[in-house]
Amino acid sequence: MSKILIIDDEPGIRTVLSDIIKDENHQVFTGGDGFEGLTVLREESVDLVILDVWLPNMGGIDVLKEIKKEYPDIEVIMISGHANIDIAVKAVKLGAYDFLEKPLSLDKIINLINNALKFEKLKKENAVLKNSILMDDKMIGSSESMQAVWTRINQSAFSNAKILITGENGTGKELIAREIHRKSSRSAGPFVEVNCAAIPDTLIESELFGHEKGAFTSAIARRKGKFELAHGGTLFLDEIADMSISAQAKVLRAIQELKFERIGSEESITVDIRLIAATNKDIVGEVSAGRFREDLYYRLNVVPIHAPSLSERTSDLEELVSYFMEKFKSNTSEVCKTISKEGLKFLRAHKWPGNIRELKNFIERINIMTDEQVISAETVKYYLQEDKNVYTQSNLDDEYSEMKLTDAKDKFEKQLLIQKLEQNNYNISRAAEVLGIYPSNLHGKIKKFGIEIKK
Ligand SMILES: Nc1ncnc2c1ncn2[C@@H]1O[C@H](COP(=O)(O)OP(=O)(O)OP(=O)(O)O)[C@@H](O)[C@H]1O
Ligand SMILES: [Mg+2]
Repeated sequence: MSKILIIDDEPGIRTVLSDIIKDENHQVFTGGDGFEGLTVLREESVDLVILDVWLPNMGGIDVLKEIKKEYPDIEVIMISGHANIDIAVKAVKLGAYDFLEKPLSLDKIINLINNALKFEKLKKENAVLKNSILMDDKMIGSSESMQAVWTRINQSAFSNAKILITGENGTGKELIAREIHRKSSRSAGPFVEVNCAAIPDTLIESELFGHEKGAFTSAIARRKGKFELAHGGTLFLDEIADMSISAQAKVLRAIQELKFERIGSEESITVDIRLIAATNKDIVGEVSAGRFREDLYYRLNVVPIHAPSLSERTSDLEELVSYFMEKFKSNTSEVCKTISKEGLKFLRAHKWPGNIRELKNFIERINIMTDEQVISAETVKYYLQEDKNVYTQSNLDDEYSEMKLTDAKDKFEKQLLIQKLEQNNYNISRAAEVLGIYPSNLHGKIKKFGIEIKK
């Protein structure tokens, strides 16, 4: 079923067309002039517009221009009288799909509508394909732990079963979710991602379920939620364990019934979606700590998939490295650089707390930074070392997560002072300069934190 909007000022034409289109099992919206029509487009995701050339207030050509500007993907069929056929031809040049001449012939109308819809669908599919080719990495990995992942993907992609993907940062959870969508029968439909951790609690309901105009102060127009936008496709709830308990309750209801209401509306909306959730937290631990609803966990965890960390799949490292080397090779060079055998050893021994994402960033960086065609072990070591000095997010999480702000600040300050002192051979004035403070101030801090001055 498609959504078709008819914009014509003659009520008779609107009725005739509506009847024909409804008989073909499509949903019809109508507008008596351009303004009414454009209002519908703002609120509904219309697939096709049938637009009269001659309209009061705002002419058909101007309406067409507006549609093509705001919604370039929507196809438009113009209707013209014999007298203004040249305008209809001009409309096609401006991007209209085709035109119908009055008096309207039933067969022609149906034919044209079906062709336009088919064209629109192909265009959408094409865009989805292009997007997946350009944006995503190919999922690399044939290690034992990755084979288990592939098996799960292949077994579950075609079903509608809910999937819960767990794994550390950067292990490819999102890539797995996209792969499942791509392999499913919904691949032509949308893949809609929601990062539950990034949305404040007060907004999550409206983000997921949408709202009506005026539902709250800032709701200036009706807005669809992610559940609705994912209709016919896959909804990916990322960082699910970061959702508040109250939001979890709302999500639970929506996924049990696949039915919800936009905020400010009583009308229930039913959607056809496939749910995939992901988290980098120990979700079982979150459940036992009472931070994640047990019932929601069981609902989501129908097919669990664990994305292995890079250290659990070092046999994939070489293949991943070659893949990223090829990806990040400079535009000017034909052949891509490689990493020496000795260099690969260093990469294998490295811990990679940021997993594949960290490796990918590393390869991109080393490709830019060095001119060596075969990258030496020394170069690899040098840039790995450089990485270590960066305070990573995961370090922060582990060390500071349970601390009070003042304690955490003190601890961090002490570590930073020790590092700078070491780097400057315990020369107080140089270390102070690097830190941007007065030497007397640094002396005071050394005393305060009881830092040992090694000479
Ligand atoms: N098996 C793989 N082959 C190739 N590239 C991969 C693979 N796994 C992950 N990547 C790439 O690594 C990066 C991180 O992957 P992704 O965003 O899917 O991880 P994530 O588990 O969702 O991370 P986070 O927990 O931080 O959200 C992406 O650029 C992705 O394309
Ligand atoms: Mg992710």
